[in-house]
Order: sequence, then structure tokens, then C-alpha cells
Amino acid sequence: MASSSSSSMIFLLVLLLAIFIGLQHFYVASFEFQVGGTRGWIVPLPNDTNTYNHWASNNRFQVGDTIHFSYKKDSVMEVSEEDYKDCNATHPTFFSNIGNTVFILNHSGTFYFISGASGHCDKGQKMIVRVMVQDESLPNHANSSGYHDAVSLIMVFGMVLLQFVSEYVVSYVI
Ligand SMILES: *[C@@H]1O[C@H](CO)[C@@H](O)[C@H](O)[C@H]1NC(C)=O
Ligand SMILES: *[C@@H]1O[C@H](CO)[C@@H](O)[C@H](O)[C@H]1NC(C)=O
Ligand SMILES: *[C@@H]1O[C@H](CO)[C@@H](O)[C@H](O)[C@H]1NC(C)=O
Repeated sequence: MASSSSSSMIFLLVLLLAIFIGLQHFYVASFEFQVGGTRGWIVPLPNDTNTYNHWASNNRFQVGDTIHFSYKKDSVMEVSEEDYKDCNATHPTFFSNIGNTVFILNHSGTFYFISGASGHCDKGQKMIVRVMVQDESLPNHANSSGYHDAVSLIMVFGMVLLQFVSEYVVSYVI
């Protein structure tokens, strides 16, 4: 009797833990970054040509995160490292010009983006995004406000869970 109820309690614990971890993963993995903040994806000012790489290096990207490009009369391309350096827009691996492009960072490593509009890449409308290996950078996500909300939610959920579980355990033990 006692062993069957304790094993069902362990099952419940494992189940709740799995839900908790799953939720945490969901929130972390689905973070969306706005490229360039409120200005969006535009030709940088002449005194600020490195603006996108500056922006990107201030963020920590993880596999599953998305980056959102917002622009008008422009386009976004993912290209090879060589084409990034040359601003060569002739054979992108990804192209979009719909004005609101959501790109999924679906693997770790380096992504290279340029504008496909004539002359824009040469003026600095280009960006390197480095995506960390999964979970390597959890605390570094703290730069992004959306992540704070997700973390708070997870913390609250975790606390409620912990309280629930400990009451459950106490009621069994006593
Ligand atoms: C670049 O120049 C603009 C004015 O043309 C100014 O508002 C802005 O602060 C400058 N940016 C930097 C990074 O110096
Ligand atoms: C762009 O790349 C293609 C293929 O590698 C090459 O044939 C072409 O000359 C390049 N264009 C420029 C402007 O570098
Ligand atoms: C990432 O997405 C691209 C474009 O949809 C696809 O070609 C590639 O196979 C994907 N890579 C992984 C690791 O899923």
C-alpha cells in the first residue's frame, strides 16, 4: 500500500517537473528579438554604420529564438560569410521583402544577414548573429525585457509548484 502511493507520488512529481521544464524551455526558446529596436531594419546613419553588429553583440541568441526584421521598401537576405563581406546579393540562402520578416535561428553558429536593396549593405545595413549552443547562456538573456517576464512567470510557477509538492509530501509523511 505505502509503496504504491509513494510511487504514484513520485510519478506526480516527475510529471510536474516535466511540465515545469517544458514550460521553461518554451519561454526561453520562443524569444523574439526586434532587429535594431524601434528603428527597425534601415540604412544606418553615416556615423553609425556598425549599428546592427553592435546591437547583435549586445544580445544573446539561442537556438529557437526568432529575429524580427521590420522595414519598408527594402529586403533581408541570409548569405554566406563571403557574400556578407562582399555585400554580394546575387545568391542568398534566404530572401524576404514582405516588410515584416521573422527569421528562426534554427541552429547554433553564425548567421549573416544583408539588405538586398542596392547599396544598402555597403552603407552598413548588414548584421552578424552568433547563436550559442543550447543553454550555454541562460543568465545572459537578461538583456532582453521579454525574458524577464518569462523568468518571473517561471519563478512564480516554480514556487507554487514547490509549495504544492511540499504540502503533499508533508501530508503523506505525517
Ligand atoms: C549620429 O548623428 C546624429 C545626427 O546626425 C546624432 O543624432 C546621433 O546621436 C549620432 N550617433 C552617434 C552614434 O554618434
Ligand atoms: C557574387 O558572387 C558570384 C558567385 O560567387 C560571383 O560570380 C559574382 O562575381 C559576385 N559579385 C560580386 C559583385 O562580387
Ligand atoms: C534551418 O532552416 C533552414 C531554412 O528553412 C533549413 O534549410 C535548414 O535545414 C534548417 N536547419 C536545421 C538544423 O533545422
